[in-house]
Amino acid sequence: KIIILDFGSQYTQLIARAVREANVYCEIIPFSKKVSFDDSIKGVILSGSPFSVNDANAPQVDVKALTNERPVLGICYGAQLTAQQYGGSVERSNKREYGRAYLHLEKDDALLHNITPASQVWMSHGDSIKNLPDNFELLATTDSIPVAAFRQKEGETQPLYGLQFHPEVYHSIEGKKILQNFLINICGCSQDWTPAHFITDTVEALKQQIGDQKVIMALSGGVDSTVAAVLINKAIGDRLHGIFVDNGVLRKDEFESVLETYKTLGLNVKGINAKQRFYDALAGKTDPEEKRKTIGGLFIDVFQDAANEDKDATFLGQGTIYPDVIESVSVHGPSVTIKSHHNVGGLPEKMHLKLVEPLRSLFKDEVRRVGRELGIPDDLINRHPFPGPGLAIRILGEITPDRVALLQAADDVYVKALKKHNLYATVWQAGAILLPIRSVGVMGDERTYEYTIALRAVTSVDGMTADWAHLPYDFLATVSNEIINNVRGINRVVYDISSKPPATIEWE
Ligand code: XMP
Repeated sequence: KIIILDFGSQYTQLIARAVREANVYCEIIPFSKKVSFDDSIKGVILSGSPFSVNDANAPQVDVKALTNERPVLGICYGAQLTAQQYGGSVERSNKREYGRAYLHLEKDDALLHNITPASQVWMSHGDSIKNLPDNFELLATTDSIPVAAFRQKEGETQPLYGLQFHPEVYHSIEGKKILQNFLINICGCSQDWTPAHFITDTVEALKQQIGDQKVIMALSGGVDSTVAAVLINKAIGDRLHGIFVDNGVLRKDEFESVLETYKTLGLNVKGINAKQRFYDALAGKTDPEEKRKTIGGLFIDVFQDAANEDKDATFLGQGTIYPDVIESVSVHGPSVTIKSHHNVGGLPEKMHLKLVEPLRSLFKDEVRRVGRELGIPDDLINRHPFPGPGLAIRILGEITPDRVALLQAADDVYVKALKKHNLYATVWQAGAILLPIRSVGVMGDERTYEYTIALRAVTSVDGMTADWAHLPYDFLATVSNEIINNVRGINRVVYDISSKPPATIEWE
C-alpha cells in the first residue's frame, strides 16, 4: 500500500481516489502521525496544504527520514517542503499561479515517462520553488515557473520526487499516468486492489471477526447499507438480521420495492411498518430541526424494540464509509480533529454491541464498484442519495399522511420522468418539494386554489457544494404538465435555480 501524509489540502482525498483507481490500496494519515514502516508499505505521497512552507506554524515532517525507508513523492506543498528541507529556496511568487499550465519536459525519467510534450497540468499555489537543492535535477518547467517537477539524483536513498502541480485533479490530463508511473515503476506496487480481491478478503475477515455470533443491522435501501449487508451475508448467511423501517416518509412504493430487492439478494431482512408511530410523533411539528430529531429519536426506539426481540445478537452492522472516518487535518491550525459518525447514534454503546463496518476503507465510487461485482442491481447502485428524515424535510410545515401522499405522487412523476429521459444519471440528487402556500389557478371553467410543487435537481461531487442542474426546458414542461394533470391538489410547479451555498440542497 501507499501512505498519503495529509497536510490539510482540499485535494488529499482526490490523491487517494486516483491511487485507488490504479488498483493500488492507500491510506490517508495526518502528517503529525509517525509512520511505522512494515513490508506492506511501498511508498509515501506528501499532500498539498493551505499553509506556506515559510509560515511560522507550517506543518512539518522529516522528509529525509522517509526517503531512507521508501520512495517519496511530494505534491505542491509536499514538493516545496522537500525542496526547502534539502537547502533549496521557496518564495512567494509575484503572481499566484492557479489553473491551466503546460509542461516543458527537461529530462526523460521514470516519473514523467511517456508523457506527451506540453501536457496540460493544473496549478494551485502561491509559493514557487526558485532554486533546487544541490544534488537535485529538474524534470519539467512551465512558462511561468522554473520548477514544475524535480527529483533527487540517483543515490543512496530511495527515489525522491516533487511535483509543483496537482496530478490528482481532473484537469491535469496525464496526471493519472504520472501517478501510475510513481506507483508501479518507482514503488513497485502490484495492482491488486480490485473489487474481487476486496470481496474475498473482506468476507474472510468478517468470518474471523464475527465467528458464530449474530449481527443486527438497520438497512436504508441505499447503496452503502445494502453493499455492507450483502458482504456480511456472504460471510454469515442468515445470522445477519436486517431491519428495514417504514417511517411513513419514504418515496412512493419504496418500502415494498426495497424489501423485494433484499429478498432477491437473499438477505434476511424484516420490514417493520411503523408509519403510524411516526405520523403520531410528527403531528403538530413544523420546525425542521424538531422534525429531524423526532424522526431520528423514534427510529432508534423502533430499532431498539426490534433488537430487543433479538437478544443474542452481539454485533451491530453499519455502512460507514472511508470519508466518514478519515482523520482530517484542520486548516485553522495544526491540530487534528476526528470526525465521528454513527448512523444509529449512540446505539452500540447503549446496547453493548460491537461494530461491524465492512466498508470503512472504501470511497463511495469503490462501494459502487464492489456492489456491481456482488451483482446488486444497477437501479440500487446508482440511486441518488436520500436523507434519513426522508420526505419530512421536503414537506414544508406540518407532516400529515395526506401531504405525504401528495408529495409522493408528484415526486414519483418527476423521478420516473428523469429516468425515462435518461437524465437521472446526469444529476447528483433530485426530488420534489411540497410548499405550504396555495395559489390561484384555472382548470377548465373552474377556479382552483391549490398547492405548489418545487422541483429540485443538483449537480455535485460530495453534497458539500452544489449547482442547480440545467435540465432542458422541454423536460421541465413535460413534468410540470404531468404533475398538474395527475396530482389532484397541485396547480403550480416551479423549478429551484439556487446553488449551494448560499442555499442548501434540501429546503429544510
Ligand atoms: P443540504 O440540504 O445540507 O444536504 O445541502 C446535503 C446532503 O445531505 C442530505 N441531508 C441529510 N441526510 N439526514 C440525512 O441522512 C439529514 O438530516 C439530512 N439533511 C440533509 C441531503 O439530502 C443532501 O444529500
